[in-house]
Order: sequence, then C-alpha cells, then structure tokens
Amino acid sequence: MTIFSVHSTIFSRASVVLLSSNGFKRFSFASSFSSTAVYSPRLPKVKKQRRYPIVSAVDIGGVTIARNDVVKDDDPTNNVPDSIFSKLGMQLHRRNKHPIGILKSAIYNYFDSNYAKKFEKFEDLSPIVTTKQNFDDVLVPADHVSRSLNDTYYVDPQTVLRCHTSAHQAELLRKGHSRFLVTGDVYRRDSIDSTHYPVFHQMEGFCVFSPEDWNDSGMDPTLYAAEDLKKCLEGLARHLFGSVEMRWVDTYFPFTNPSFELEIYFKEDWLEVLGCGVTEQVILKQSGLENKVAWAFGLGLERLAMVLFDIPDIRLFWSSDERFTSQFGKGELGVKFKPYSKYPPCYKDISFWISDAFTENNFCEVVRGIAGDLVEEVKLIDQFTNKKGMTSHCYRIVFRSMERSLTDEEVNDLQSKVRVEVEKKLNVELR
Ligand code: DAH
Repeated sequence: MTIFSVHSTIFSRASVVLLSSNGFKRFSFASSFSSTAVYSPRLPKVKKQRRYPIVSAVDIGGVTIARNDVVKDDDPTNNVPDSIFSKLGMQLHRRNKHPIGILKSAIYNYFDSNYAKKFEKFEDLSPIVTTKQNFDDVLVPADHVSRSLNDTYYVDPQTVLRCHTSAHQAELLRKGHSRFLVTGDVYRRDSIDSTHYPVFHQMEGFCVFSPEDWNDSGMDPTLYAAEDLKKCLEGLARHLFGSVEMRWVDTYFPFTNPSFELEIYFKEDWLEVLGCGVTEQVILKQSGLENKVAWAFGLGLERLAMVLFDIPDIRLFWSSDERFTSQFGKGELGVKFKPYSKYPPCYKDISFWISDAFTENNFCEVVRGIAGDLVEEVKLIDQFTNKKGMTSHCYRIVFRSMERSLTDEEVNDLQSKVRVEVEKKLNVELR
C-alpha cells in the first residue's frame, strides 16, 4: 500500500499488520491483540553525549514545567528523553511566519469564512495529558498497542505526552464546547526518515449537531452528520490544494463510526490527508450530550505543509537557519521552498544480534539521542536468523546535516558513540 507516509492518523485499520515500511499507520484496531505487543521494554536513557542542550524548564502557555516533572531518570515507566522535553512549549503552530503556523491560519480562514456559527479555537492546551484523556476517553482498548512504552512517551503510568489531539475531545465537550478546532504538538516514538519525527502537529475538528439541525433534512442523524462532514472537508481540501481529485476511503477508528479517510490525488499518487468520522455515541453520552450527533476529524499539519510548501525533509520544520525561516517570512500559503543546498550524506552500517526485547523505535531513540537532527534516516537493510536461532539486524544510518557538510571525523565519532550506546542500552551484541 503506497501512501505518502508522514504521520497523520494512527488509530486506523482493523488489522495488526505494519502497513508501511516506515511506520505510518502502524497501529490498528483488531479485535484481539497479542499481549506481547503491549508494554514492550522501556528504552533506557542515553545520558551522555547529548547533541541537545539540557533544558531545565519549558513554558507551556504561561505555565512553567520543570524538567524533573517530565524527565524522570529513576522512574522505570518514564521514557521521555531530554531531546523531547526541549520540544515542549515550542509550539511551531503558533508562529505565524512558520509553515505550520501559516497552514493553521489558512485552515482557520476556511472555517471562519464558511461557518456563521464559528468554531472555537484551542491551540494552547498542554500536551501533557492523562492516559484517560489520551486513550480511555476516546475508547482506545485497554490492550491496544498504541498504549505501549514502545510507541508513546510516558511521564508516569498515568501521564503521557499526547499522541493525538483527539485527547482533548471529551474534556472540551464536558466543558460545554460544541464546535471547535484544537491545534497542538503531538508526540510519538517512531522510526527515522525524511517524513517521521517524534514531535509533529495535528489539528482536530469537532462539530456537534442537535435535532433541530437535522430534523428538516428528513435524514437519519448519523447520515446527516457524515454528509456534512464530507462536504466540509472536501471544501477544506479545495481551499488548500485547489481543484484536486479526491476520494473517500472507509476505515476504522475507535472513536468514530462510520470512519473515513480523505485522499487527494497529488503528484501522481493518492495522499491521505486526514481521518474523520461520526463520533461514537458513547463519547457524547459520557460528556453529557444525549440526543446529539457529532463529527470529528484529525489532520497532520506536517504532511500537508510538506506538500503545500515543497518541504523535502521533516527536520527542516525545526530549523532556525535563516535560509529556511526567511523563505516563509511573509506568511503566505503559496510559497514553494527553495532548497539552499544539499549537503552530502554519509552512510554508516551497524550490525548486531538482537535480543527478544529489541525494538526499532528504541534503536532510533538511541541514534537520535546521539546524533540529534544530523541523522536523516535509519533503515533496516538486512536481517537473518542463524541455526542457533539468533537474529541479526543490519541498519544503515544516513547522517546528513541540513546546514553544513559533516566531516568524516565527526561522523565516525557519532557512529562509534552509537555502537557503544546501542550495546550498552539495548542488550544487543555487536557483530
Ligand atoms: N486521532 C487520530 C490519529 O491521530 C486522527 C483522527 C481520526 C481524529 C478520526 C479524529 C477522527 O477526530 O474522527 O490517528
């Protein structure tokens, strides 16, 4: 299945298989899950040789959060590295000359000009949420793989860095909001390539209807909501992409029924732009909304921005290089990114015998902890199991800076640190 694979929806498809090689849509909702997939071993932290300065506190919407409240070296459940902590509070979506902020504003414009009853906007909700908000409130099954330490950043057993903006649906409904857009940074442990980064941005849309909205239509309320949703999102896609070919694909999310994905035909391929559906009645009832229906959608801003602005690598969104930032200085949607230069990549391979506890996400976190944004891609290029039943993995690490040429010495140094840390932290045997 070829999909433009930047993170977007995670909770789709009723199957447990990996749908793409680089991690897109790895989670899904089969009726039964292997319990071994849940609570995979935590990644021990890489404490030395960080490429990130250690940030001691961050500000999230005026609230100061201390490092020690989020990065807990002595808590076995905690798997938040400093590199991730430092991203909290960056809120790229609130920078009006940043591609993510520009795109957010373009979506706001669409909703403001097409809906007389305005959508309320929330973009400052803390990304540190309870497991109840992130999972239970949106009906994610207790044994679902997305709850694992391998996939989600846990602060403690009851607290996570939200992995989707859907985490705020229920609380906002309970507070009486009925039409809203929630934009925010979301966090997922993942593989490394040009379209995956452990922090990215989503926008959630939610719209509740009352009987007076659908009564005159003579339609079934669920159908009414589904039609309204499709009309709204087709309009949004045209607003952003112009007159494009689109198609709706039926899918599965635990929080909606029916559920859909919208794909648009872009550069000779079908690109999934968002997940959406008619909200499960249980969610509305639990929030005190009887006799209502609602639709909801969730879209990944990076994936859309990469297409709209021609941005080739997801790491660029985090760059403070003026050659990047100045290109979006006017805050316009139609701007195409002009690459300032492409520095040479440097490839390094590493092979080891894995242990049962080994996961690729843990490996990638070690590599990122050492090389930071100098790592462009981590690819499994070979694997085999020998007669004794030992499995070997060979990964190719692509080092490339977006800002300068790396020296051989620097890359060799990074690679040898990776070798040391991988052996030490992941219980593997180097070959
Ligand atoms: N939360 C989903 C994800 O991150 C995206 C999504 C799908 C949000 C459907 C929704 C929805 O509100 O109705 O994978």
